[in-house]
Amino acid sequence: MDRPFVFINVAMTADGKIDTYQRTGAPISSPRDKARVDRLRAESDAVMVGGHTLLDEDPKLTVKSDALRAERVAQGLSPNPVKVGVVTVAHCPPESNFLQAGPARIVIFTTSRTSKEELASLQAQGVEVFVHTSQRVDLHQMLHTLSELGIRKLMVEGGATLNFELLKLGLVDELSIFLAPLLFGGANAPTLAAGSGLTRAAAIPLKLIQVENWFDEGILLLYKVERSV
Ligand SMILES: NC(=O)c1ccc[n+]([C@@H]2O[C@H](COP(=O)([O-])OP(=O)(O)OC[C@H]3O[C@@H](n4cnc5c(N)ncnc54)[C@H](OP(=O)(O)O)[C@@H]3O)[C@@H](O)[C@H]2O)c1
Repeated sequence: MDRPFVFINVAMTADGKIDTYQRTGAPISSPRDKARVDRLRAESDAVMVGGHTLLDEDPKLTVKSDALRAERVAQGLSPNPVKVGVVTVAHCPPESNFLQAGPARIVIFTTSRTSKEELASLQAQGVEVFVHTSQRVDLHQMLHTLSELGIRKLMVEGGATLNFELLKLGLVDELSIFLAPLLFGGANAPTLAAGSGLTRAAAIPLKLIQVENWFDEGILLLYKVERSV
């Protein structure tokens, strides 16, 4: 099945946490990393988040820099990449940043557990909604649909569950990690990849392709995922 090039970008502490135990979206990126993430967004056709990140943190997912948006427009693109949400039950308030910040095309993949009223309300706001009849969104099918919508490069911005499911299915090509000089601890604080976990034998091998040492600010790691399909 056709799918876009998929890369995950995360900001992580030295103990592998992508948020604190409070799960309220603790800032981890440095100013330089924020600028790097903005460029990655600007260079992507679409930016995707999982349902908990979408509903709890309500990210804008837009390109912040005027210059980068102008660069996209000069290339004949929309100012912002397509915003994609993956959510079993899509309770997206109409005034949310995800729906309001733009201009951007918005695509939501959900399941038949989202009520007909909510689906109609999203569609009335111009959101393209794809409803899967499976218990959860079928990620293979979702990537195929994104490919049909013209998405060639997809940036995944978490969270932990979506990252894990995509990695487990072999649907990720690269992993970009900003490693901040911080420790959060906490058994329940989310890590880069949560979900059910893997045995050692099933561990996903990575190949390091780039390292940048930003010293006191952090370390940038770029990995190729060896077992992508
Ligand atoms: N530091 C960073 O770079 C960064 C970036 C983003 C997020 N975060 C953090 O990550 C945390 C949220 O992560 P999370 O693990 O709770 O949630 P998540 O990955 O954001 O969301 C998972 C959601 O996707 C839905 N889903 C539906 N089908 C799915 C499928 N096939 N595979 C995977 N998910 C599917 C899940 O539905 P169900 O209800 O069926 O499970 C759930 O609503 C927050 O604390 C946030 O701050 C950190």
